[in-house]
Amino acid sequence: MSEHYTLHVNGVERAVQDAWVGENLLYVLRERLGLMAAKGACEQGECGSCSVLVGGNLVCSCLVLAASAVGEPIVTVEGLAPPGAPSDVQQAFVDCGAVQCGFCTPGLIIAAHDLLDRTPEPTEMQIREELSGNVCRCTGYGRIIEAVQQVAVARRTADAGAAS
Ligand code: FES
Ligand code: FES
Repeated sequence: MSEHYTLHVNGVERAVQDAWVGENLLYVLRERLGLMAAKGACEQGECGSCSVLVGGNLVCSCLVLAASAVGEPIVTVEGLAPPGAPSDVQQAFVDCGAVQCGFCTPGLIIAAHDLLDRTPEPTEMQIREELSGNVCRCTGYGRIIEAVQQVAVARRTADAGAAS
């Protein structure tokens, strides 16, 4: 039996037509809505490459039924910044050389935004813990940690400038 429902993705209502109710959010984002940032690797909640925000919570979209996200705001990497302009975290990943093959990068970018929104001044240990659900086979994580720290400092400096 096919289902029709609407998802609220990156601030836009997106219709999903003729879907199977058991489809996961990762599949629907990529194959039905054409949002290719979230990646499927393990498809069992182990690697974080499919991370997105649903209702403000960081989730593995491979483990979420798409139909269960109706009514919740969904944010993918495509919705973090205006088209054509990187978010501060995306720019920092580039500046710090934190992207190699890039397969893990969208998940890490979403996770880093979530971390910095909740914990604006994270310690290195907090960054390592919070990003531990996102597996990267290439970088060794050092430059990823550095990118997150760089954004934390830049945001703090900007806040201080705005307050003075
Ligand atoms: S593909 Fe979802 S956690 Fe790995
Ligand atoms: S950059 Fe290749 S898996 Fe992270």
